[in-house]
Amino acid sequence: MQLPDPSDRLADTLRRRRQKLAQLIDFPVLLWSGGARSRNFPANTYPFRASSHFLYFAGLNLADAVIQLDGGRMTLFLDDELPGSALWHGEMPSREDIAAAIGADAAFPKSELRADGASVATVRVQDLGTLAEQERILGRSVAPPADAEGWDGELVGAIASERLSHDEGAIAALREATAVTVEAHKAGMAATRTAARESQVRGAMEGAILAHNMTCSYNSIVTVHGEVLHNEQYHHPLQPGDLLLADVGAETPGGWAGDVTRTWPVSGTFSPTQREIYDLVLAAHDRCIEKVRPGVEYREIHLLAAAVLAEGLVDLGILRGRPSDLVERDAHALFFPHGVGHLLGLDVHDMEDLGDRAGYAPGRKRSDRFGLGFLRLDRPLQPGMAVTIEPGFYQVPAILNDRKNREIYRDAVSWERLERFADVRGIRIEDDVLVTETGAEVLTAALPNPAGAIEEMVRGNVPAEPTAPPTSTAGKR
Ligand code: GLY
Ligand code: MN
Ligand code: MN
Repeated sequence: MQLPDPSDRLADTLRRRRQKLAQLIDFPVLLWSGGARSRNFPANTYPFRASSHFLYFAGLNLADAVIQLDGGRMTLFLDDELPGSALWHGEMPSREDIAAAIGADAAFPKSELRADGASVATVRVQDLGTLAEQERILGRSVAPPADAEGWDGELVGAIASERLSHDEGAIAALREATAVTVEAHKAGMAATRTAARESQVRGAMEGAILAHNMTCSYNSIVTVHGEVLHNEQYHHPLQPGDLLLADVGAETPGGWAGDVTRTWPVSGTFSPTQREIYDLVLAAHDRCIEKVRPGVEYREIHLLAAAVLAEGLVDLGILRGRPSDLVERDAHALFFPHGVGHLLGLDVHDMEDLGDRAGYAPGRKRSDRFGLGFLRLDRPLQPGMAVTIEPGFYQVPAILNDRKNREIYRDAVSWERLERFADVRGIRIEDDVLVTETGAEVLTAALPNPAGAIEEMVRGNVPAEPTAPPTSTAGKR
């Protein structure tokens, strides 16, 4: 494991975070990092990724570690390496060196950790092996964070409110993640010129991420079947008339995520029908980004995307009726069934492990409307928040061929007209946006999205070379 350079000032960032937490709660906290999960036999594990709540306060991707936070102090619990481990995994830095790097006030072997579960709060981890240890040491059960009550519930609320607005250290890390994400997309467009299959484009994109010693922040979507929203298959051949949808993001070693989607024509030229829908999705994307600033309700941004799409689909003859009526009836959701985006941070859907306790303002609940139920964020925007803006258009057979939908929206859709757009299976355009004090900064602005610029990049008429390192003024609006 590589310890951070002291010039990164990681320890100072972490100290400020735990001091802030101490202002919100007045009881001690234990946070587990989690352990590596086995794939097919115990020693062959999936890559380890620590819990985001642990990473937020401890900064390093340490397996099988626990931190105690109490009044702004941090104690690290981490066992010595097992005998023989260095042979296979190399020497770990000492517990004391790790503690110094993250600014812990004390460090002990984890085997010495004892706790009275009634007087300490925690957040339930994802992996069941660690959950068993968590419950054994605390001597009580630990509910999923969405249902946590008592001190655990207060802790979840405090962490959510702290993590909602990113500090300088987090923003710097998000800039690194988004810069590498942009580079991966450029590599994907360049690779399309010679690729015969989706998997080759995926390989180029993930290769660009791995080359920066980063990982993917979620399973990549690189597909000519963009109508499958989270398509994780990469075997399809690339045909000249296809659109390729790539939703790929980089994650820094500290766990901070990028999340970008571009959709490009395999041939380097959009067909007229692909271009019409692409320009419409881009109009929705641009209008939504223009609206991002503190105080604006994210739900209004989602509804703006719905309105722009509905109006454009009426203009194209695909939907029939008054756009506002169509949005009220959720007719736009036939083609745009997901939310316009979500929080972004240490998790690609930041703090989704907390259920809607981070994404939804207190007292708000998910709507059961077809057009709103998948909205992951329903809060007023505040400075320091990072969100994605990702409208799309999809022809999902499960939605469009559904008998009930056909009946409900019989008069709202021109099915005949829709057939003309058969070569548009799925288009999504997704960027990462930081809410500033006065407006917004598109963290991924270095990756163009107008159709003409996309075509030029795929054809290779503009260099798809590595993105320059981000600066504080990059992508400012
Ligand atoms: N990459 C998943 C999403 O965009 O939400
Ligand atoms: Mn996203
Ligand atoms: Mn995405």
